[in-house]
Amino acid sequence: MKNNFDEKEAIMKRYSCRTYEKKSIEPATVEELRSYISSLGNGLFGSDIRFDITASVPGDSENLRGLGTYGFIRNPAGFVIGAMKKGDHNLEDYGFLMENITLKAASLGLDSCWLGGSFSRSSFAGRINAAADETVPAVLAIGYAAEKKRVIERVARWKMDADNRKAWQRIFFHGDFSTPLTVDEAGIYREALEFLRMAPSAVNYQPWRILKERDKNRFHFYLKRTKDYDENSFMVKSDLQRVDMGIAMSHFEAGAGLHGLKGKFSVTDSPVPGKETPFIYTATWKEAR
Ligand SMILES: Cc1cc2nc3c(=O)[nH]c(=O)nc-3n(C[C@H](O)[C@H](O)[C@H](O)COP(=O)(O)O)c2cc1C
Repeated sequence: MKNNFDEKEAIMKRYSCRTYEKKSIEPATVEELRSYISSLGNGLFGSDIRFDITASVPGDSENLRGLGTYGFIRNPAGFVIGAMKKGDHNLEDYGFLMENITLKAASLGLDSCWLGGSFSRSSFAGRINAAADETVPAVLAIGYAAEKKRVIERVARWKMDADNRKAWQRIFFHGDFSTPLTVDEAGIYREALEFLRMAPSAVNYQPWRILKERDKNRFHFYLKRTKDYDENSFMVKSDLQRVDMGIAMSHFEAGAGLHGLKGKFSVTDSPVPGKETPFIYTATWKEAR
């Protein structure tokens, strides 16, 4: 996807903001975000996902009444809500598209926070008029960050080690999963992988594992499932680690695009047979010639 904003700057400044100023989003900004959303096509794997913004109007937050976040988010100025039908790779597509919206929001000066667990699912589903065959896997709180963070927010960040990311050699591999990929071996894909490493993920678990083929700019994306963390976990109704994979793909694509690298994600045969890897194959980035 070709974006018309500085994705690197957006990736650098984005973080999960849970305390906002009591301030509505400028109507022109809401309009620009809305128009970006309507310009989004289907996801990488063809899922047709609809997104909508619900925002407070200046001086009146009535519009957001009932959209609860169990105390995790204070004074949000709005939410981006998406609804999705069943389908192959639909959660990855949800992550990919919503993260692009997150980065666009950051480029417009908005702070945000993904919510996949701490939101009242049924009220949000009601707000977007989700049909019986649609689900709302996660939403995005948006607004302007308050200067002072709450204690609960600082504790949450500390518990999830939210300022840090796994070391390069723990998540990027070369040829097989016992050989780490060095920064030099990543070559022109170094920034794509670095952007990926900075991506947000549910509980900051960073479940992505990337395997580069030897002598080829072909990157296989795998999910390392966190034990017992799936759609049956406490407060979580969707498989958020699959959403994380889509987020990773959006950051990778942004980094590749920055270097003029053209390519595509597709699902091929996993290069490592299922029995030989504890990871779940998701998709492969192939450079276009
Ligand atoms: C799919 C997804 C779901 C998330 N769900 C929640 C949530 O329910 N509540 C919350 O406070 N943060 C949530 N987060 C934010 C993560 O905790 C955060 O991205 C992670 O700790 C890294 O911190 P950072 O975003 O500031 O870099 C979610 C993030 C993602 C990507």
